[in-house]
Amino acid sequence: MKIALGSDHAGFPLKAAIADRIGGDHELADIGTFGEASVDYPVFAERVARAVSSGRADRGILVCGTGIGMAIAANKIVGVRASVVHDAYSARAAVEHNDLNVLTLGGRVIGVELALSVVRVFLEARFTGGRHQRRLDLIAALEAAGEPPQ
Ligand code: RB5
Repeated sequence: MKIALGSDHAGFPLKAAIADRIGGDHELADIGTFGEASVDYPVFAERVARAVSSGRADRGILVCGTGIGMAIAANKIVGVRASVVHDAYSARAAVEHNDLNVLTLGGRVIGVELALSVVRVFLEARFTGGRHQRRLDLIAALEAAGEPPQ
């Protein structure tokens, strides 16, 4: 699987651990950041989200302090379904039911080993379709409609 991986400074140590521990099993594109100097997370969220929305990556992983800012930013890109997930049950359900294609993590919140378990489940799980596809179609329609003028 092709994975686009990114973080800001707060997520950099966890991103490095993820690259180290899952890099051998997948084709990883690490889009930065590459150190702990302060950077702006939306820049990295956009890079990963565009890699996924364009099909250059099958899935994306983003790490910031909480995972929240990365999810908010990544979800602005059409076709991206991003969420912060910090447990294995939700990681599986998020892919099987919601077809999550960008996982976000909080490097200041979750421990490395739990984060790696979440990442592994996220990468193993597959969307189950059926009734869940109908619901994703409704979300896509919301995305296509945008905000009506006030
Ligand atoms: C950076 O200090 C922090 O705000 C950022 O990593 C992230 O947690 C935002 O959601």
